[in-house]
This record gives sequence, structure tokens and C-alpha cells, in this order.
Amino acid sequence: MDFCNTDKLVKYIKTEINKMAERKKQISPSIMCADFMNLEKCIRDFEKNGIEYIHVDIMDGHFVPNFTLGTDFCKALKKATNIPLDIHLMVENPEEKLGWFEFGEGDYVSVHYESTKHLQRVLSEIRKRGAKPMVAINPATPIDVLRWILPDIDAVLLMTVNPGFAGQKLVEQCLEKITELRSFLDSHGCENVEIEVDGNVSFENARRMSDAGADIFIAGTSSIFKAGVSMDDSVAKLREAIK
Ligand code: DX5
Ligand code: ZN
Repeated sequence: MDFCNTDKLVKYIKTEINKMAERKKQISPSIMCADFMNLEKCIRDFEKNGIEYIHVDIMDGHFVPNFTLGTDFCKALKKATNIPLDIHLMVENPEEKLGWFEFGEGDYVSVHYESTKHLQRVLSEIRKRGAKPMVAINPATPIDVLRWILPDIDAVLLMTVNPGFAGQKLVEQCLEKITELRSFLDSHGCENVEIEVDGNVSFENARRMSDAGADIFIAGTSSIFKAGVSMDDSVAKLREAIK
């Protein structure tokens, strides 16, 4: 290790801290970006490549201006594979809709801070049902809103685009926000709380996000669902970028 090189030294220290906190870099492909005519193959490719989670975007046309996947799709996925789900609820009043979904041990379920007046209640309900609660925040939402829900979360989903659509461009200031979020969590004794990033996680951006402290990477049209690249190659390239 070349300790005269500040960047390398910072990266080394961050890697060691991650090891101590038992966090590891993981990939969660955004299934809404898959080829729906070939979903079975896609899922088997995930399994073959040791993919850690499947990210499922649920949109209600209110919280975000789009519709995507829903309850039956999650149910079918749970039957089709043992890979844990990473359900991203982009819906108004998630506390009213949580009961519609099947999820359990090992799955992540995220709710947006901006979507409910009863955030703590809905996060604790996710935990009660055996899954891992995650809170999602939009690019403009400050980090300190998380202060009083820290005991209720296992991860923070930091949106790096405004949610609703695949194929958007990174909101650049979110890179600094990742670094700030990692220090905020560590300074409150939450070294084990993971940071997930969602939106324009390209190979290049993934490297920068990883250096800033991200742990779980939502892989969409910017990386593993890029046309013309095999799943094996793109997952290997993404793993190389985030290690
Ligand atoms: C929204 C989605 C999108 C998308 C990510 O929550 O998760 O952000 O599928 O893929 P990109 O941004 O690479 O198209
Ligand atoms: Zn998402």
C-alpha cells in the first residue's frame, strides 16, 4: 500500500472500516429495466452471478408520475427465486398498502420519508413482519430528518436521481451527500446501517459512489441492463467498479 497517495490511503481506511462494520458491497438489479419477455432467463442469470437482491420498483402515479410493478409481480418473484427482494415503495401513504405485499425474512422494504406522516410506524411494521426496514430519501431531502428513526432502519436508500423513471442523469451533489450520510450514520453509532444508491448507477458513477461510501448499488439501464452486453460481463464489470 502506497501511503504517500492520499486517495489510496482514504480508500484503504474506508475498506477497513467497512470490514469492521461487516458491510459488503452488493448489487440489486432494478427488475423494471429487464426484458419482460425473457424474465426467467434474467432471474437465472442473477442466480448464476450471485446477485444479492432484486430491486422492485412500486410506483402509484401519485408519489411519482409513473406506474410500474405491483403486488402480484412481487408474489411471482418470491415463488421464482430465493434471492431476497428489495421492494422500493414509491407510493403515498405506504402504511395503508404494506399489508397488500408478501415479504419476509431477508427482504428489504423501503418507504420514502416524503410519502408518509407516519414514518416510524410503517418502518416498525416492516420489522415486525420479519423484513429489513429501509428509509428512502429524495435528492433534495436533508439527511438530518433521519435522526429520530435511526433505531428503526437497517439501511438508507439515497436517491441519486428524482424517482419515477429509469434512464435519468445523476444529480451530482448526491455524491457528496453519500459521504455526509456515511459520517452521519457512523457518528450516531450506526456503522451497520447500509447505504443503497438508486439512479444512474453507471460503471463510472458506481465507482465514485462506492468511494463515497455506498454499499448497495441499484443496477439499471446505466449498467447491467445496457443493450448488447451479457449479464455475466456487466456484473463482473460492476463488481470491479465497486470493490
Ligand atoms: C427508480 C429506479 C430507477 C432505475 C435505475 O427507483 O430504480 O432509478 O431503474 O436505473 P437507471 O437509472 O440506471 O436507468
Ligand atoms: Zn428504485
